[in-house]
Amino acid sequence: MISSRIRTIQPSATLTVDARAKAMREAGIDVVSFAAGEPDFDTPTNVVEAAIRAASESRIQKYSPAAGLPELRSAVAADSNATVGNHLIGADNVLIANGAKQAIFSALAGIVETGDEVLLPAPYWTTYPELIGFFGGSAVPVSSSATPGNLPSVADLEGVVTDRTKAIVWCSPSNPSGAVADAEHTREVFDWAKEREMWILSDEIYRKLYYGTGTIPTMRALGCPGYSRLVVVDGVSKTYSMTGWRVGWLLADEEFIRGAARLQSHMASNVSNVAQAAATAALQGPQDAAKDMLESFRHRRALITEVLQSIPGIRLTEPDGAFYVFPDVRDAAQRCGAASTQDLAMRLVDEARVAVVPGEAFGFSGHLRLSYALADNQLDAGLRRIVKALT
Ligand SMILES: Cc1ncc(COP(=O)(O)O)c(C=O)c1O
Repeated sequence: MISSRIRTIQPSATLTVDARAKAMREAGIDVVSFAAGEPDFDTPTNVVEAAIRAASESRIQKYSPAAGLPELRSAVAADSNATVGNHLIGADNVLIANGAKQAIFSALAGIVETGDEVLLPAPYWTTYPELIGFFGGSAVPVSSSATPGNLPSVADLEGVVTDRTKAIVWCSPSNPSGAVADAEHTREVFDWAKEREMWILSDEIYRKLYYGTGTIPTMRALGCPGYSRLVVVDGVSKTYSMTGWRVGWLLADEEFIRGAARLQSHMASNVSNVAQAAATAALQGPQDAAKDMLESFRHRRALITEVLQSIPGIRLTEPDGAFYVFPDVRDAAQRCGAASTQDLAMRLVDEARVAVVPGEAFGFSGHLRLSYALADNQLDAGLRRIVKALT
């Protein structure tokens, strides 16, 4: 029989609605999908051209170092130092992985032992609990007591700590809520975890999709490198519309990176060199396309927030990051006679032809996640359908 480690892994809950929407589309039914966690834009042209040029280089056609192409590791370090204002990260603090997802896998492999508890702010992205469980740990969900959907405070975290607590996963801006922890909150959680000698896995994949002013507060600015139990995840997927290229990375203490590189050397050898060349161009080339995409997201965020706020029974504050909104729809669901937000999501897809992901997929019922990374005309059409269905 297949191993229990694999048997217990759940399929991504976000796929349930998505699968229904896709099946309907294949049947010729016009469905607007707010379900996808990826930008609708094409990858910037300069990035694609760099990849095409690289593909004919013989060095790129052969195996390369497991930790990543030296020029990409340097580019990641330089980009992090320039954008975070912390000038300490060097190429040796960087491991290039097959997307941020594989970086998270390697990070948890280096942190979690059987029986460990890992604090997981809820709502959470579905991959974390699956991988924590894969390595024999257990995820301990913890929510904000002050503002449902936001990242928890130190007091909230303190309430669930036990002597088995090994680590905390911190994702700001958050998938699914788009919430961003402010500088004081970030500092308090960092200091608290450090004081307790706890590991911090900080997923900063959405850090460049930030609509606030100034530099986004990050864990890396506080202790990477410096605090050897801080491991940061980042990548090009979301910022540069490169989800299919599969390039992400880990930033950590050199010893951690060397360990993760040993694991990766057996698991994957190197990440595709062509994709690494593309990611190098994304970081080193002009940033205009990324800025334009951010401005489109900013505009769509304002629109989706305004429209959803106008629907009776929906509560939402405009989030500061990523490309998701996560409104509280409990009252709206009740008014429609929906038994749960899962039920509401199914009704929206079946009756209104709009796909959204129910909060249950993120360990947080009562809410829906809507991604606004979809074309403007789709966004307009989808919002009109939602208003019609819920008012
Ligand atoms: C919070 C978070 N981390 C990591 C990832 C994975 O990104 P990648 O496509 O680089 O593997 C995603 C993708 O949805 C995400 O939402």
